[in-house]
Amino acid sequence: MEALECIKTRYSARGFKPKPIPRNVMNQILEAVRNTPSYTNTQPWEVVVVSGKKKDELSKVIFALAKAKAPTSPDLPMPKGWPAAHDARGHEHGARRLATLGIERGDEAGRENLRLLNFEFYGAPCVVFLFMDGSLEEWSIFDMGLFAQNFILAAHSQGVESVLQASLTNYAPQIKKFLGVAESKKLIIGISLGYPDNEAKLNKYRSLKQKPAEFTKWCE
Ligand SMILES: Cc1cc2nc3c(=O)[nH]c(=O)nc-3n(C[C@H](O)[C@H](O)[C@H](O)COP(=O)(O)O)c2cc1C
Repeated sequence: MEALECIKTRYSARGFKPKPIPRNVMNQILEAVRNTPSYTNTQPWEVVVVSGKKKDELSKVIFALAKAKAPTSPDLPMPKGWPAAHDARGHEHGARRLATLGIERGDEAGRENLRLLNFEFYGAPCVVFLFMDGSLEEWSIFDMGLFAQNFILAAHSQGVESVLQASLTNYAPQIKKFLGVAESKKLIIGISLGYPDNEAKLNKYRSLKQKPAEFTKWCE
């Protein structure tokens, strides 16, 4: 797939076929993503790929926590709030996603079910967790973002769709324990991925984007 086409057609998928991602496809993705740039080539990323029975077991653990609204302990603090324009875009995203599913804004149970789908990895056959050393700071998080974006684009080029999930990081200590990852590591993001179920209602949803003129200033 041509690069511009790949960037333009990527979207967050939230419904998947059960078909596993073949190991050679995952290897191809990882082989491409290792070329990600990083601050002084420090390459902070540490990747855990979870599928099969382990993925199902992990889902059970974190779904139960999320359902019980257990206390959250993300390694990166969740945003406390947003400036008005960003907040408006976030609300618009939430409202249009609910509308796609026919869930009324006041339908607390419907909204809760939607939230909980995160912890079933939206039915994906695979979830990938990106960690970095606990001593690393902001610039390494920047590198992790580059890695995550390369990862989802490489996957998309292979017909594998994905969704980044900050929500999963709420249960970072439990995920690290389950995966045998040292407590001292920082969990940056979870990414559910697989072959998309194009019939899934949530996959009909597409987010709105700003036009370049809205975020670009030209100085000539
Ligand atoms: C850092 C980050 C965290 C995200 N966390 C979640 C999440 O927990 N659950 C979810 O369904 N989508 C999550 N998303 C996906 C965003 O909602 C999505 O990228 C955004 O609405 C734009 O839509 P698009 O990816 O289809 O272009 C996250 C995206 C990013 C970049």
